[in-house]
Amino acid sequence: MSGVIVIGAGQAASALAAKLRAGGYEAPVTLIGEERDPPYQRPPLSKAYLLGEMPRDRLYLRPESFYAEAGITLRLGAPVTRIDPQARRVHLGEEALPFDHLVLATGARPRRLPAAIGGDLAGVFTLRGIADIEALAPLMRPGARLLVVGGGYIGLEAAAVARKLGLEVTLVEQSARILQRVAARETSDWFRALHQSHGVEIREGVGLARLTGETRVEGAELSDGTRLRIDLVIAGIGVSPESGLADAAGIACGNGIAVDAQGRTSAPGIWAAGDCAAFPWRGRQLRLESVQNAIEQAECVAANIMGAGRAYDPHPWFWSDQYDVKLQIAGLGQGHDHVVTRPGKRAGSVSHWYFAGPRLLAVDAMNDPRAYMAGKRMLEQGRSPEATEIADPTQDLAALMRAPARQTEES
Ligand code: APR
Repeated sequence: MSGVIVIGAGQAASALAAKLRAGGYEAPVTLIGEERDPPYQRPPLSKAYLLGEMPRDRLYLRPESFYAEAGITLRLGAPVTRIDPQARRVHLGEEALPFDHLVLATGARPRRLPAAIGGDLAGVFTLRGIADIEALAPLMRPGARLLVVGGGYIGLEAAAVARKLGLEVTLVEQSARILQRVAARETSDWFRALHQSHGVEIREGVGLARLTGETRVEGAELSDGTRLRIDLVIAGIGVSPESGLADAAGIACGNGIAVDAQGRTSAPGIWAAGDCAAFPWRGRQLRLESVQNAIEQAECVAANIMGAGRAYDPHPWFWSDQYDVKLQIAGLGQGHDHVVTRPGKRAGSVSHWYFAGPRLLAVDAMNDPRAYMAGKRMLEQGRSPEATEIADPTQDLAALMRAPARQTEES
């Protein structure tokens, strides 16, 4: 038996391998990763790790001894060069490894600012891997002038860390508002006010025209003609699914590697999971960028490799930390037609509830774990509260969850 090869050694790969062993899979399991670190969590990179409040080994998902004891081979610092689906082999340069099942858990790579506008100058960073933070952290010194390009979660989290460390921060977002891709106007407004109250200069509807400097970035020119003197740039301008190997091997790709409900790609014996995979969900192909998705989809694929025949049907959730705010998100808000605001019990806590007609789609909870839990539970059960009940802070969420609410979708 050749066993399972996983390309990728991140959150999804690690969850998949562990699940295979927990499920009694006995053939060889090998994780092949381009990066040199054993599987680690990425979310702290733009938060506690960048802040210097988390040691490197706390990033690791499991101690290295776990892999040895579980009979999981880690091949790190090893870029796969080619997949041969017909011969069922993975190539690392001259070396070819056979597999019974191959799992593509290749993740996503950060988009970079083009070299033509100065994106390759020294002092320009993306935040995706440990190596990015190791290079950036020593430059995050009080008084340094930082330009953050992109007002998604990565850009906002980086801005929050930078302010805590005493940098001067300007953030430019080319869309009309920060968080436009993932959140409603109400949530964008809330986070804009939060960052402004911490001294971040936010410019929306403004792109970056070019970065200037000889070898190291010294200035930025914005699309509205503004010129800024800067010392550092962090680009949080989104990620692209890592589907190059699959594409080159003739495996169907769209927005990522296309899989069916079980996680199978178009090539027999080849599966995909995590940030790189687009799966069928409620009538469309969905690709999620989250820890929850990496773990749950990978575990589903592991079960299916062992013959479970299970369809992956997640209830998405996400989180972000900025300053002293914990944002928790349940559901996907895309397609909402109105948002209901619910003040929380504590000062500064609030939640935004996204509806499409009577149907609850998502909840953004800022420092309000009770609202998050209630919303998450309702979404899992396919239940929707009345908007008027949600808007009324005297209505008890726990009681709403117990009430015989309207069933608005199949759970
Ligand atoms: N200038 C200014 N803003 C830009 C530019 C540009 N040239 N290009 C893109 N943007 C903006 C987009 O409009 C968007 O608001 O950058 C933002 C990127 O946001 P996301 O796509 O959400 O990506 P990012 O914040 O980088 O996060 C990448 O990592 O932790 C995860 O949840 C995160 O899955 C997400 C991923």
